[in-house]
Amino acid sequence: MKTELLTATDQGLARAAEILRGQGLVAFATETVYGLGGDARSDLAVARIFDAKARPRFNPLIVHVPDLATAERFAHFDARARQVAAAFWPGPITLVLPLLHEAGLSPLVTADLDTVAIRIPAHPAAVALLRAFGGPLAAPSANPSGRVSPTRAAHVMDALSGRIDAVLDGGNCAVGVESTILGLAETPVLLRQGGVPQEALEALLGPLSIGGNSDKPNAPGQLLSHYAPRAGLRLNATIATATEVLIGFGPQSAGQAALNLSPKGDLVEAAAALFHVLRVADEMAGADKSIAVAPIPELGLGRAINDRLRRAAAPRS
Ligand code: TXA
Ligand code: MG
Repeated sequence: MKTELLTATDQGLARAAEILRGQGLVAFATETVYGLGGDARSDLAVARIFDAKARPRFNPLIVHVPDLATAERFAHFDARARQVAAAFWPGPITLVLPLLHEAGLSPLVTADLDTVAIRIPAHPAAVALLRAFGGPLAAPSANPSGRVSPTRAAHVMDALSGRIDAVLDGGNCAVGVESTILGLAETPVLLRQGGVPQEALEALLGPLSIGGNSDKPNAPGQLLSHYAPRAGLRLNATIATATEVLIGFGPQSAGQAALNLSPKGDLVEAAAALFHVLRVADEMAGADKSIAVAPIPELGLGRAINDRLRRAAAPRS
């Protein structure tokens, strides 16, 4: 198939909605990363998402909706869930809540769990697409499973052109790391570090317990490797060896590193740059070099950056 590159004009949105209604796949920009969207009520569309990504089937997907009223058709919100939603939606946080089984989501989306992961994105093109389509969109990050997530339309085209129907170009993603995932089905648990920092959540909810590997809610501890470039990766590097490409952070890397996530040491800027810089470093490394990354402070968005870097550096299976 030929992948159409669409823009978020009335015409582009109408075409994207038409593809989605025909159970096709449209990758679209959100403020975190590009998602690979399909109708969350259609087994066929959801199966196509797994196939295009070559993704393990037991890994459930996030359901994207345009507003809280729509979210409440698919998940049960208690007072605490409403409080978190009011504070952070629309925005880069996903809530795992009790599933309303009668709401008609494909069981492939939830991997037959009794919970559903749901999010209201803030990116205007994502919201416009959800409204034009008029239904819930299942959307994992629009990259082949295990690889670096896309933050530009060109990243999606590079990896998935020919495998999906369209890409809706919404520019470069402003946040740059995936949404924070907060489990609220029982006691609050932070399942994935992401675009809403742990500190901001804890200011609202008090100290949070940290969950295991949310990439495998059914099979804890497997497949730590994720977000991986082709080249190997070494963390907390201050200088590179002759066979490494160094990704720096902050003014202390000036003059040391060819690439820098944020020359002024800003974690928000570094998160927005992360996945693109990993791709550039991977190209520079080629077949015979590996990548080294400078230390990133473990606070705010640095927590999500370090989480993705640790997985990128994990042993490959
Ligand atoms: O920022 C994001 O969240 C992006 C954009 C496109 O919205 N999406 C994204 O989706 O990162 P994905 O599929 O790459 O990650 C979804 C994560 C997975 O780790 C999955 O295991 C977890 O959400 N998840 C989904 N449903 C769950 C559930 N019911 N319980 C626990 N974890 C769940
Ligand atoms: Mg992903």
